[in-house]
Amino acid sequence: MKGIILAGGNGTRLSPLTKVTSKQLLPIYNKPMIYYPLYTLLSAGIKEILIIVSNDRPGDFMRLLGSGKEFGAKFTYEIQDKANGLPEAFVIGEDFMDNENVAMILGDNIFEDDFSSAIKNFKSGGKIFVKEVSDPERFGIAEFDNNGNVIRIEEKPKQPKSNYAITGLYIYDPRVCKFAKELKPTWRPETDITDLHNKYLELGELSVEKVSGEWIDAGTFETLFKATELARKKFHDMNRWDFIMKK
Ligand code: G1P
Repeated sequence: MKGIILAGGNGTRLSPLTKVTSKQLLPIYNKPMIYYPLYTLLSAGIKEILIIVSNDRPGDFMRLLGSGKEFGAKFTYEIQDKANGLPEAFVIGEDFMDNENVAMILGDNIFEDDFSSAIKNFKSGGKIFVKEVSDPERFGIAEFDNNGNVIRIEEKPKQPKSNYAITGLYIYDPRVCKFAKELKPTWRPETDITDLHNKYLELGELSVEKVSGEWIDAGTFETLFKATELARKKFHDMNRWDFIMKK
């Protein structure tokens, strides 16, 4: 399994903090934001990771993370020239994936859970992770039937069909590259990751798992603050970081 961290975008919702640095480099307690999604992939045993950054500050990410050797991993970098949507990561990352399965995580998503077994047991199709939230209008939202099966996913719905948000960790087989290329931009005008989930759902190949621990999309001032609290409470223990550094 390969890994992708998508750390593009302009972070406009966090201006002026993001005027002179990237959102994913902002501090979350005592680490830059990107360390947390990186931790999620590394602690699940993923060692080959593509880091996709915007054309603004690729040097800063490389200076911070380097070759990956320090983390017992190998990092590759690519640039997303424009905010064309999350699915573009699978177009940019097609050569890197080289026909292998991939776990993609958004550079502003902080998870408490350990995804080792989900990642190790993944064979093919797609897998997404949902978490109950109080502000469903902000996210991709799952709609369930009476048996608890997901029947549709809607991006930032005005009238959400549930409170289950699609978190920013996605596991896909290599067909995702082809599907991503076939997507049409929405009104935004970007392509939507939700369309990829729905594609696998229509094929009957999307599995959905609930996240049990805390999850934060740190893209707003409020959630950035919450992420800092979570990190201070749950991630401050240096041994936790030593563990991935030594792998
Ligand atoms: C993106 C996705 C959305 C998902 C969210 C999770 O939204 O489009 O489906 O629920 O990430 O963080 P964004 O935060 O880019 O607006």
